[in-house]
Amino acid sequence: MEKFIIEGGHKLEGEIEISGSKNASLPIIAASIMCEGKTVLYNVPDLKDIQTMIKILNFMGVNTKFENNTLEIDPSGIYQFTAPYEFVSTMRGSICLLGPLLAKYKKARFSMPGGCVIGPRPIDLHIKGLKKLGVQIENEEGYIVGKADVLKGNDIFLGGSFGSSVLATANVMSAAVLAEGETTIEYAACEPEIVDLAKFLKKAGAKIYGEGSHLLKIEGVKKLKGVEYKIIPDRIEGGTYILAGYITKSKIKINNIIPQHLFALFDKIEECGLKIIYKSNFVETIPNDKWKATEITTLPFPGFPTDLQAQMMGFLSLAEGISIITEKVFPERFIHVGELNRLGADITLDGSKAIIKGVKSLKGAKVMASDLRASAALVLAALTAEGTTEISRIYHLDRGYEKFEKKLNLLGAKIKRIREE
Ligand code: UD1
Repeated sequence: MEKFIIEGGHKLEGEIEISGSKNASLPIIAASIMCEGKTVLYNVPDLKDIQTMIKILNFMGVNTKFENNTLEIDPSGIYQFTAPYEFVSTMRGSICLLGPLLAKYKKARFSMPGGCVIGPRPIDLHIKGLKKLGVQIENEEGYIVGKADVLKGNDIFLGGSFGSSVLATANVMSAAVLAEGETTIEYAACEPEIVDLAKFLKKAGAKIYGEGSHLLKIEGVKKLKGVEYKIIPDRIEGGTYILAGYITKSKIKINNIIPQHLFALFDKIEECGLKIIYKSNFVETIPNDKWKATEITTLPFPGFPTDLQAQMMGFLSLAEGISIITEKVFPERFIHVGELNRLGADITLDGSKAIIKGVKSLKGAKVMASDLRASAALVLAALTAEGTTEISRIYHLDRGYEKFEKKLNLLGAKIKRIREE
């Protein structure tokens, strides 16, 4: 295992490029197995989660080539339809293969994704939506086994106790594309990653209307063709670097970003009394020595993203006053609180609310990364902490941030990756 040694207190300076979106790539890669012929995807980030997805495809007999952020996928040799436990257990996002497998090959055997450190993550909405399209689904010895003779369009309400579901929408929308007749999905997720998936599917021949809203209409088509497609930039990576700029009181420019994907973050930065500059494809941080506390509720898009909650908490731990973050998407996603407190933050929890009393400074300590975004929050805090911070278990970061420490070091951070004894 590897760890980061971070020397805090250095200002950042310069420009940074955002990579392609992990969460858009995963369902698009999955959907490409429904296409006849080869698909070529550009701007795919080279990350552990993407490599895991490629391993699952290869296990199934799908041919792939991944070089310089370009991924070629040729599904013509697919011969097995199982996603085994050893892959699914490391990456829950692989569940987005379920819909494409059932739509195109009419069978799938999928290890049940377990809970994880951000709380229980059910898949009832995925199953409900696919069943409505005519799939039979059983639970056999920890595996979800799905089969269907024919998929038929239907009216599907996809809202759950926590609102819309990103990957359930990806699964059901992808499957509906090859179903007979018309499907409507009410309470669909409208995240930019779902819009990107819809654009990819439309380029491949799908008929989808309403992407980006809560109501999707899909007219089934007989087949899809392999296409070339460029993935959108990663808004969560972008947001993380924006917060890195502000927390270190630095002026940095973040390129290859779609500002509209991050308006909820910009709004909160402005509420904290800070200025932000953005144009069509870049953002510049305008730092200040001080910022004010604020209140945040995480919500599905266009609300404040849960995937930036931990990083924002790190930033607010240095605000003047008391901030409150209410987590409405994954109410138990607070594992980073204890670790941020080890660095000197003053955060207490009350159910799904975190109460953050701003402190004057953070101090380096030994901490442990617990999940992908929580790890990013610790790195941001460490960049501004006095002294040295050691973050263990950084493999979480490699799941979702391409060249994380390289990019930050180019801006002037002092992060070393070393092997843990
Ligand atoms: C995706 C993202 C993840 C992000 C999350 C919310 C990928 C690979 N992952 O995860 O980074 O944090 O969206 O923006 O794209 N739920 C149910 N039943 C279901 C499915 C979900 O109740 O069948 C609940 C979840 O427990 C959660 C909420 O719905 O409370 C939203 O989860 P969902 O949007 O499904 O998250 P993912 O798609 O798994």
